Amino acid sequence: MPISELISVFTQGLRLAVPTGVLKHSERVAELAGDLMSMRGEAPETAILMGFAHDICRHFSDEEWLICAEKQGVLVSDLERRYPVLLHGPVGAKILQESFDIDSKEVLQAVRYHTYGHPTFSNSAWAMFVADKIEPQKLERNSRLGAVYELSQDSSRSLPEIALAILNLQIGDLTADGREIHSLQIASRNFLVSEQL
Ligand SMILES: [Fe+2]
Ligand SMILES: [Fe+2]
Repeated sequence: MPISELISVFTQGLRLAVPTGVLKHSERVAELAGDLMSMRGEAPETAILMGFAHDICRHFSDEEWLICAEKQGVLVSDLERRYPVLLHGPVGAKILQESFDIDSKEVLQAVRYHTYGHPTFSNSAWAMFVADKIEPQKLERNSRLGAVYELSQDSSRSLPEIALAILNLQIGDLTADGREIHSLQIASRNFLVSEQL
């Protein structure tokens, strides 16, 4: 199925699967992710699909994430057991594969790791990662993201570079609050730093 058709079929199913708040957020992420790709001269469709798909089970309860993870054979770390919301990426990727016929490894990986990023991310995946963190409503809630948004609108800046700025902010905040940092967040940052060398 061509990707434009896949997006159209998927969004029809999405409307029935998630509450309005998640749907609106996903629409904003899809739009911004597509724009971030287009303004850099790259095809937007895959990033748009990732944006629509990434929070397919964000509305689940802690118990539902843990039960689904167990059923799906998703490994659950101690950190994820304490904060089950961290499972909405891995559990969501399985749901997309099993119930929405999405079989693109690139899309499934992007959804699985969208909370932290991942060294194997494509540009489309980084576009969705960035858009998820700086979509208009998140900008309204956190004025510190304004500088990252400005960076994202400069097409001479690569998407991994913008993603690194976001990870630096996130890791800085977690450290300042004395909270744990997921190992994948550190792995993504280290990879992106090494790419800049
Ligand atoms: Fe999410
Ligand atoms: Fe999201």
